[in-house]
Amino acid sequence: MILIMALIAPSLLAADFLKLQQEVEIVNNSAAAWLHLDVMDGMFVPNISFGPMVIEFVKKIVKKPCDVHLMIEQPGRYAETFKNAGADHLTVHIEACPMLHQDITQIKSLGMKAGVAVNPHTPVALLSDILHEVSIVNLMSVNPGFGGQQFIAYTLEKIKQLKKMISERDLDVLIEIDGGVTIDNAREIINAGADVLVAGSTVFRAKDPIGAIEKLKTV
Ligand code: DX5
Ligand code: ZN
Repeated sequence: MILIMALIAPSLLAADFLKLQQEVEIVNNSAAAWLHLDVMDGMFVPNISFGPMVIEFVKKIVKKPCDVHLMIEQPGRYAETFKNAGADHLTVHIEACPMLHQDITQIKSLGMKAGVAVNPHTPVALLSDILHEVSIVNLMSVNPGFGGQQFIAYTLEKIKQLKKMISERDLDVLIEIDGGVTIDNAREIINAGADVLVAGSTVFRAKDPIGAIEKLKTV
């Protein structure tokens, strides 16, 4: 039996910000596919993280695509700013975008891959009329805002539903799972149909982050 592998996207949110350069080098020297960057505004989510200025510095040394996840209200206001900061992928929340189609169109016209994220309570069926416009769907497997939370098991059901929607229409859309991903649950998440695993604590709180990335990839 051939085991399907996922792309691994370590989330910088769990890194030691006093050692940002070393943390980014860890990702550069690992089997990670992307670097995941969580931007929070204290409005859409209760927490505030970092913004385009930090990403601009990270971009100077990172060798993997920057997968920027905007957990902010009306993210379209900042699409160009994040493009200029170095975002390769820009993901916005369906819950934060009354004009989602317009925001996705703008992201693509700026030359970035467009992603849409959905909170745990948002049905994947709501993605039906935007799915063909995006490259990534980020299914939040925790309520966004903080790293280190527990994986919500129902996400597995949502992955299966979304995978079916994508394959029935033969679309080229990656399913990214974000929150509570561990070495213990990674295989089940991949088997449900996930293409990309975001991992914050599992990578940056590990004694051996490069080994943790390798384990997630080969689990
Ligand atoms: C949560 C963020 C996640 C977070 C994941 O709001 O979107 O990307 O960093 O962290 P872990 O892997 O620790 O759950
Ligand atoms: Zn994220």
